[in-house]
Amino acid sequence: MSSQIFRSVSRATRSIISSASKQKSSLLSGRSASAAAAISYKGVLPALASFGRDSSGNTSSTWIAGAFMLPAAAYMVQDQEAHAAEMERTFIAIKPDGVQRGLISEIISRFERKGFKLVAIKLVIPSKSFAQQHYHDLKERPFFNGLCDFLSSGPVLAMVWEGEGVIKYGRKLIGATDPQKSEPGTIRGDLAVGVGRNIIHGSDGPETAKDEISLWFKPEELTSYISNQEKWVYGVN
Ligand code: RTP
Ligand code: MG
Repeated sequence: MSSQIFRSVSRATRSIISSASKQKSSLLSGRSASAAAAISYKGVLPALASFGRDSSGNTSSTWIAGAFMLPAAAYMVQDQEAHAAEMERTFIAIKPDGVQRGLISEIISRFERKGFKLVAIKLVIPSKSFAQQHYHDLKERPFFNGLCDFLSSGPVLAMVWEGEGVIKYGRKLIGATDPQKSEPGTIRGDLAVGVGRNIIHGSDGPETAKDEISLWFKPEELTSYISNQEKWVYGVN
């Protein structure tokens, strides 16, 4: 039985290493490489998935011993896996009140801990006309002028976050516009009290996200990289 397991592991490992070496040249070149890695990794996975199971499909205790026998190369291939799908991006800004109240790390950590990936960040004091551009859809509202004065009154931490569903879920992490109505557990629910000082902005849809990212960031300020966490954040079982 144990030699059978060993042969099975060796086969799976050889297969992984051979896939990895075929991909080696393309692994450093961004999204298309990530997609290739993910596809190839999935092809190899069944061999590993069946390892350690008896004929009834139950996981046997040898699985754990077997897992430790896998050479480092197998894990290196896992390292190279990335989510194949094109990832969504959203614009998130910590407004001057959030910056002044020392909430930058608290807010960033909520997005990080969720599993989203930071791809751009900078601290800027926007001009009033820039603020007016940012909030152009609210120009008819009575609070528009005060809102733009406020946004341009001090440093804003502008960021772009990436991840599956990040636009919609980013808004969930942020909470309702009026902190009095934001659920506890959300950023505004936990950290803000008044609607005029609700500490954070998040794009409200795909079109807005695209427009806001290009308003606040030049293309060369946006990074593209494979996070080592991705294989633990995304995966199809
Ligand atoms: P944001 O754009 O800042 O993420 O906020 P939001 O989508 O949740 O809400 P939105 O309707 O876009 O409003 C933009 C910001 O305007 C301020 N506001 N004041 N006085 C008021 O009744 C009022 N309503 C909205 C808030 O600071 C809100 O974040
Ligand atoms: Mg809005």
